Amino acid sequence: MNNAVAGFSKLSKNEKINWIAQEFFSNPEEVQNIIRNYWNSDEKLQQLHDEFIENTITNLYIPLGVAPNFLINGNYKTIPMAIEESSVVAAASKSAKYWATRGGFKATVLDTEKIGQVHFTFKGDAEKLIAFFNEIKPKFFSETQSITKNMQQRGGGIRDIQLKDKRNLLENYFQLHATFETKDSMGANFINSCLEQFAFTLKEEALKSGFEIQVIMSILSNYVPNCIVRAEVSCPVEDLTEKHISNPEDFAQRFVQAVQIAEAEPFRAVTHNKGIMNGVDAVILATGNDFRAVEAGLHAYASRNGQYSSLSHAKIENGIFTFWLEIPLALGTVGGLTSLHPLVKLCLEMLEKPSAEELMQIVAVAGLAQNFAALRSLTTTGIQEGHMKMHLNNIMNQFEANEEERHLIKTHFKKTAVSHSAVVEFIENLRK
Ligand code: MEV
Repeated sequence: MNNAVAGFSKLSKNEKINWIAQEFFSNPEEVQNIIRNYWNSDEKLQQLHDEFIENTITNLYIPLGVAPNFLINGNYKTIPMAIEESSVVAAASKSAKYWATRGGFKATVLDTEKIGQVHFTFKGDAEKLIAFFNEIKPKFFSETQSITKNMQQRGGGIRDIQLKDKRNLLENYFQLHATFETKDSMGANFINSCLEQFAFTLKEEALKSGFEIQVIMSILSNYVPNCIVRAEVSCPVEDLTEKHISNPEDFAQRFVQAVQIAEAEPFRAVTHNKGIMNGVDAVILATGNDFRAVEAGLHAYASRNGQYSSLSHAKIENGIFTFWLEIPLALGTVGGLTSLHPLVKLCLEMLEKPSAEELMQIVAVAGLAQNFAALRSLTTTGIQEGHMKMHLNNIMNQFEANEEERHLIKTHFKKTAVSHSAVVEFIENLRK
């Protein structure tokens, strides 16, 4: 079947849906209904969402939940989380409650440096290029004045621009490597505008001075190893006791060993860090930030020493258990979706309109809390107990179980292990 189409973007929304329904489905009417069921009845609101991207046909819902009782640097926060995976919000809430009675979370921003690069080639004497760069360097600042003026008023701007010789990587390859401070904005537009101006200045000046420079591209880097936040929990080992932790020394040791395994072994490290991302991404999505950028930068950071490794660490020292992570996070609380999406605005308001640095702290704490919850389950009861409880709900929904059936299913599976087939069999027997 040839499903190619010309001029698709020029079709109206209804025409696009029609085309899809006719082209890919045996029951086009049903497909049209499903798609339209997810439209917002408020036309203006729907239009807002339609215009976020191109070729929008409908909305894909992700649940927005909240995890309350997060004590962060002495203040309670209720953290919004947009995520489809059952048990993540419950796990975050459990961790929050657990640590609220043990001193809470401490979070600190270590630095907020953003990075952008102009990639170019130069054939010639590198010494001359260095002298040329040093001579024209002030121009990079003066010629971006109109772009940087507002940012400077907010305390940000260009921190520095360096010339980097990258000929060890590729023939004739050099970079302008620039660092930025973008305050409460994630800064992608600001950085890219500055970089494109740097490239323009570089080309102009090179032309004037007879330098053979070819600009390849100008773009920010999502690798931000100096835009770092640290989140930590700690308490005396004996205070770790709770329902599933009757022997706190043993628990603390197993926990530290679980972290050490993730530090040493990439297969485990990836899953361990995935657990951290369950918390990180959920808050990033809820606050309208770019989770792809964060994911890319964070995993690069996890490999910075040459092998992919755990982003969190744990130790027991002088009877004190400490668990912490340090992660790169380039976030914004102004600009982008933050002022456009009504739910994002609401989430930021729920967080009491945090600065970008405060949001970095909240996101890092959500990641640490999630990691703690996962490791606590893994080193005690195992992960399936909690997961399967939530899974049970999903299966009941899938089978559209009524109230009475739900009651019977839940009662039965309190004493019996949950598996998809066991639940299905039980429902089928009930309905016989
Ligand atoms: C599941 O989404 C996340 C975990 O696999 C994380 C981990 O293993 O640490 C439970």
